[in-house]
Amino acid sequence: MCGIIGYVGTGVGKDGDDAASDGGTIDGVGAIVHKGLRNLEYRGYDSAGVALVGESSGLTVAKRSGEVDGLTVPDVPDATHGVGHTRWSTHGPPTDANAHPHTDCAGDVAVVHNGIVENYEELKAELSDHEFTSDTDTEVIPHLIEEELAGASDEDGEGGDLLAAVRNVEDRLVGSYAICAVREGDDRIVVARRGSPLVLGRGEDAAFVASDVTAFLEHTRDVTYLEDGDVAALEAGDVSIFHHGEPVERAVETVSWEADAAEKGGYEHYMRKEIHEQPSSLRQTLAGRLDVDAGDVDLDVSFPPGFLADLEEIRIVACGTSYYAGRYAAQLFEELAGVRATVEIASEYEFGAGRTPDRTLVVAVTQSGETADTLGAVRRANAAGARTFAVTNTLGSTVTREVDGTAFIRAGPEIGVAATKTFASQVATLAMLAVAVGRDRGALGAADARSVLDDLRGLPGAVQQVLDEEAQVREAAREYQDSEAFFFVGRALGVPVALEGALKLKEISYDHAEGFAAGELKHGPLALVTPETPVLAVLTDGARANETMNNVTEAQTRGAPALGCVSEGEEFGTLDVSFEVPDVGVVEPIVANVYLQLFAYHVANEKGRSIDKPRNLAKSVTVE
Ligand code: F6R
Repeated sequence: MCGIIGYVGTGVGKDGDDAASDGGTIDGVGAIVHKGLRNLEYRGYDSAGVALVGESSGLTVAKRSGEVDGLTVPDVPDATHGVGHTRWSTHGPPTDANAHPHTDCAGDVAVVHNGIVENYEELKAELSDHEFTSDTDTEVIPHLIEEELAGASDEDGEGGDLLAAVRNVEDRLVGSYAICAVREGDDRIVVARRGSPLVLGRGEDAAFVASDVTAFLEHTRDVTYLEDGDVAALEAGDVSIFHHGEPVERAVETVSWEADAAEKGGYEHYMRKEIHEQPSSLRQTLAGRLDVDAGDVDLDVSFPPGFLADLEEIRIVACGTSYYAGRYAAQLFEELAGVRATVEIASEYEFGAGRTPDRTLVVAVTQSGETADTLGAVRRANAAGARTFAVTNTLGSTVTREVDGTAFIRAGPEIGVAATKTFASQVATLAMLAVAVGRDRGALGAADARSVLDDLRGLPGAVQQVLDEEAQVREAAREYQDSEAFFFVGRALGVPVALEGALKLKEISYDHAEGFAAGELKHGPLALVTPETPVLAVLTDGARANETMNNVTEAQTRGAPALGCVSEGEEFGTLDVSFEVPDVGVVEPIVANVYLQLFAYHVANEKGRSIDKPRNLAKSVTVE
């Protein structure tokens, strides 16, 4: 997710540090904003920018794609306040023009934004007389503010008020966002929050705003967390907060975390933080894309006329966790889109005989968009003349430049080496793609589509319910952590989740873990089963729970303890541990997977493993 920092004050930190000394020749405000951006770098980003407001020099903006260190913060000696932004692209690739801040036509108003404006296309259409310079959803905001200010100035003859303008604009935005706006000739930063985090830092002669406290922790530990629907105006040493137009008081809290803990949001590891981020990252994945009533999705992807109707095969290529997301999706493509779907480990992929290139869609699933094996597969598919498509988390990544179309999973940056939230967002995105393809091909009726979309809509809340049960998982992890090996089983949509559960555990705990199609246990692996090898089973909707349970019972008969993720309202009385999975139909196994993520995490944590950077592994594998 994007990072935001804003500062208004004298340029000297609360503890008396001369902030200007940190930035060489740049002035204090610029230095504090620039340092705030550096503090936010850990979140991951692809572009950065600042807007500084000087008493007489007005508004100065600098922004570019690339690293914060490469950003030259302008020298604005009379700057009184400023905002900065690190961007993780969601709408429009990482270019200089798409970097924040974005400005209005006159260049008087600058805005930084975290989140997604879902109705930006409609709003942009209404602003047809404005000049847009980027592909972002964000840019509608400064132009809407410009309209508001112009309208108000006609009425009051005084140029309108930024705070009132932001309040009115906020009413028109659909989506989740945190925004900060500054305006030439106005000594305030005006901020608004709905759905994306925003925290204020309180200083004696200063005020800060940021997407997380790490941005300004060296200046103040006194903070106020804004609530959804809050709009606030920050002046040096003074903050006014409004909710639905009424002034409100919000508590000032003192943060005791050190910077390292604050970066992890108070969690000990990024991995656990990212597991817990899944309700919000999934919301972002789904935002503005589901039209449940119409039984349709808007993924902003297009195919040549007739291509989907004539499609012979969808071939998914991917590695590791992304490969398991692909295995999940292949079943959905067959079921929902009525098209043959196969999955290939990217490093093993060849176009293969007996296929028709112009009737084959090769879908590369890759969080990073940079995995060498997956890129190699895409190149082989392109060379064979197939149409290629990417599902990725990373705008501007290599894969997006080499395929014919892309859907972004919008999970935000993932820092833990073990993929967690991106797996859930990959499957959710692929499920939406399966609905889109099924609807286009006439293979999926509106009523069936509505049911899948309704399940998807329930996914974030269901994941939150599982996260609330973390204590139960921790207890199970403590009980079974010293086992000789762990076996994960499932059927149908439960198979990829079992494989992913085993991968997660082996990656971060270094324990022996294997995933199997449950029916395969009796064809060999059962020889490994002992009282020292717990079996973890996916026993949900979409995973043929009863048949899977028969196989689990075979393992239990050989003494193995059994833990199961079971659909709400169902019961398998012989399980040693039963984790309840809320009812979300076809995406239930994804919710079950959150239990398996937590199980892996707690086993590894009990053993004191290097969870965020497991031995021998890299986040992005750029060699074949
Ligand atoms: C496992 C994991 C890896 C990646 C694999 C592909 O937790 O993260 O297995 O899934 O290296 O990476 P991407 O998705 O970036 O292509």
